[in-house]
Amino acid sequence: MNLPSPKVNIQTNPMNMEYHNDILSTIGQTPLVRLNSVTSGLEPLVLAKVEYFNPGGSVKDRIGWPIIEDAERDGRLRTGGTIVEATSGNTGVGLAIAAAIKGYRCIFVMPDKMSQEKILLLRAYGARVVVTPTAVEPDDPRSYYSVARRLVEETPNSILANQYYNPVNPQAHYDTTGPEIWTQTAGRITHMVVGMGTGGTITGVARYLKEMNPATCIVGVDPIGSILYELHRSGEYTTAEGYKVEGIGEDFLPGTTDLSVIDEIVQVNDRESLLMTRRLVREEGIFSGGSGGAAVAGAVKYIQQHALGPDAVVVVVLPDSGSRYLSKVFNDDWMRENGFLDQVWSDIRAGDIQSKKDSGHIYTARVTDLLRDVVTLMKEYNVSQLPVVNRDDRLIGLVSEIDLLNHMLHADHVHKADETIEGMINTDVPVVGPNARLETLMSLFKDKAAVVIVNTNDRVEGILTKIDILDYLSSQIR
Ligand SMILES: Cc1ncc(COP(=O)(O)O)c(C=O)c1O
Repeated sequence: MNLPSPKVNIQTNPMNMEYHNDILSTIGQTPLVRLNSVTSGLEPLVLAKVEYFNPGGSVKDRIGWPIIEDAERDGRLRTGGTIVEATSGNTGVGLAIAAAIKGYRCIFVMPDKMSQEKILLLRAYGARVVVTPTAVEPDDPRSYYSVARRLVEETPNSILANQYYNPVNPQAHYDTTGPEIWTQTAGRITHMVVGMGTGGTITGVARYLKEMNPATCIVGVDPIGSILYELHRSGEYTTAEGYKVEGIGEDFLPGTTDLSVIDEIVQVNDRESLLMTRRLVREEGIFSGGSGGAAVAGAVKYIQQHALGPDAVVVVVLPDSGSRYLSKVFNDDWMRENGFLDQVWSDIRAGDIQSKKDSGHIYTARVTDLLRDVVTLMKEYNVSQLPVVNRDDRLIGLVSEIDLLNHMLHADHVHKADETIEGMINTDVPVVGPNARLETLMSLFKDKAAVVIVNTNDRVEGILTKIDILDYLSSQIR
């Protein structure tokens, strides 16, 4: 099968303008972005294929229009027709984009575990969305596959896009995603890591890459609870169990998954997948959905298990954007309710704790301040130490209750009204940036009473003591 490329659609003209004739030709040619922080300590070059750059925000834009054009070509879909699909959301958007341009109606059937954002999104594209229960067998009449099939039987001039069995799905990736990755890596890719839902992405990309270089290693990523890992490893069908990551993992083998092109499957759990998703945005600025986090967590695991060296070039697919999961992986309450709490705490930064302190104001002292004024300030604001700053608000040291006491009780000390704090400043102060993690703070508290937060210009942004950490953590408990 050879599908036409939408790229021929770019318009150039005598006016020297360059534009796309419609949104379809903006699909594909997504960037490869190097991962740096989340892969630190690993030797290979790890590149993310960031599929949320597609106009509908996911890798599934690549399969929507070819599925529709294929049905038009062989006469199954005619003017005024309806496209029905069982979709976890993204394929719906891909189909809805092509349907909008070509004038078709869409009905999408979604399992109820899917995020509210995805349902609202499909409705925004003008589709009818039918929600079905997740916790039923695939052949149950209430399952989303069964409901979709029934809707096609009941609706005249309709087709089932059938992404789980339609060969156009892997073919679209053979025609676009695979060649893009090959060209972007100048043929140097050694390992391809992909999460599997329909398996269309991994199958199409693997077929292309293995044709170009049979040594390319194809690694699938499967959430614990899905049957694909065991099926690939031993050929055994196991019973599927629930998991939270959306878009990957299956309770059956889709017709679009060719297990023979996959060299190894790595298993990941919800926790590592979702925490990696959060790290991707906070450390790399890449706002991926949970299946992308799962794929990166799987890639890291694979690289470590196989001790891949500096010659390896690993490409990981990030299928969609985090904007579809704001109420889930990026919502601390949801993370906590689902038992990912302790790990969430390790995400806490010094700046988060400072910003939650009762008084937002940061009290500081100057070297020239009078001792008795500093004592008054400490009493008034109930603080045991104050950062001492120069005229530019840059940190000099810390003045603390105990240092003042020791000084005043010293045998040679003479009480004078104009005595300043100069001689009483401790300059051995632990300093961190606002991004310092809770673990770092805790290691400093082993032998220091307070830690000062400074920004990149050395200006004081806060001061933290153990009670601030306790206060912050207890405010997170409901
Ligand atoms: C968010 C997300 N990630 C990954 C995938 C898996 O891609 P594929 O179906 O090509 O295996 C999907 C598929 O629906 C998805 O929606």
